[in-house]
Amino acid sequence: MSAVTAFPETPVAAFNLDAWSRVRLAQVEQALGRWVTAEAPQGLDHGAPAALVEAMRYAVLDGGKRLRPLLVLATHEAVCDPADTGAAHAAMRAACAVELIHAYSLVHDDMPCMDNDVLRRGKPTVHVQFGEASALLAGDALQALAFELLTPLDGSVPEATQARLCGLLARAAGSAGMAGGQAIDLASVGLPLTERQLREMHELKTGALLQGSVMMGARCGTPGARVLEALESYGSAIGLAFQVVDDILDVTADSATLGKTAGKDASNDKPTYVSLMGLPASQAYARRLLDQALTALDRSGLPHTQALRALADMVVNRVC
Ligand code: IPE
Ligand code: IPE
Ligand code: MG
Ligand code: MG
Ligand code: MG
Repeated sequence: MSAVTAFPETPVAAFNLDAWSRVRLAQVEQALGRWVTAEAPQGLDHGAPAALVEAMRYAVLDGGKRLRPLLVLATHEAVCDPADTGAAHAAMRAACAVELIHAYSLVHDDMPCMDNDVLRRGKPTVHVQFGEASALLAGDALQALAFELLTPLDGSVPEATQARLCGLLARAAGSAGMAGGQAIDLASVGLPLTERQLREMHELKTGALLQGSVMMGARCGTPGARVLEALESYGSAIGLAFQVVDDILDVTADSATLGKTAGKDASNDKPTYVSLMGLPASQAYARRLLDQALTALDRSGLPHTQALRALADMVVNRVC
């Protein structure tokens, strides 16, 4: 008797991530362009708030890989019924909200009091272009706008969903998440961290927002405990892998490819996976984290995880 093999999934190699992403990226770009302007304070008898919106748009639009929005949308698609247009609307708002938090974190990360960088997404950093005070305020305003997106006044997102999404994003961005990780990063300059300390720093400063993206996509629907646990593990593994690879690319890639200054970690004396364990071991570690992420997806029992698999692969095998 011949064995019957079930292929519930398209293998990663057969899934066209570019085609899948193209459609979603266009939607995200259009939504961000609309939302990071809609509240432009017209009618005020002063040009300063409009100039602030200009700095916000400069920070957000026309750049970046948009990985976090893609994670929100891929998870939403893996979990929710495609006919549920309400969930899809919430997911697009969540996708844009998390990108606003990410963009704000980059604006502040680049400031002289943090990493002191002059190049971001192939352009002068926001403080170079607009001045430090404007960069600070643009970051503040982007953070606030993220939560505005999650709480529309038109009733288009149910209040229970609004509360869930706000809670997830706030926790991912705050002192127990991204901001806390950035504080550890700044306090760790020149220090020889242990692997555990470095992992905790990376999990917070970068992993929390990526895992938060996955969980926000999931919580646009109502998945069960097994799916939530598996997606949390997936998000945790790719979140850490993302920063391990960021550390690697800082050493192996050039500034033109990255759109940001290469070699910055060494020049700023930052502890990284490369400084701790060297390049080959860091690359092997990133691949192990990819395996963990894919195993977690297997465990979820979800039938449509091709995009999540391909995004995990992209996180680890990207060149910029
Ligand atoms: C850079 O993030 C900052 C880190 C968390 C490592 P990305 O590499 O996702 O930056 P963009 O959004 O593509 O510019
Ligand atoms: C930044 O980490 C993480 C953030 C929360 C922004 P990095 O400082 O390594 O990011 P890049 O390399 O400047 O993009
Ligand atoms: Mg930094
Ligand atoms: Mg930096
Ligand atoms: Mg970096």
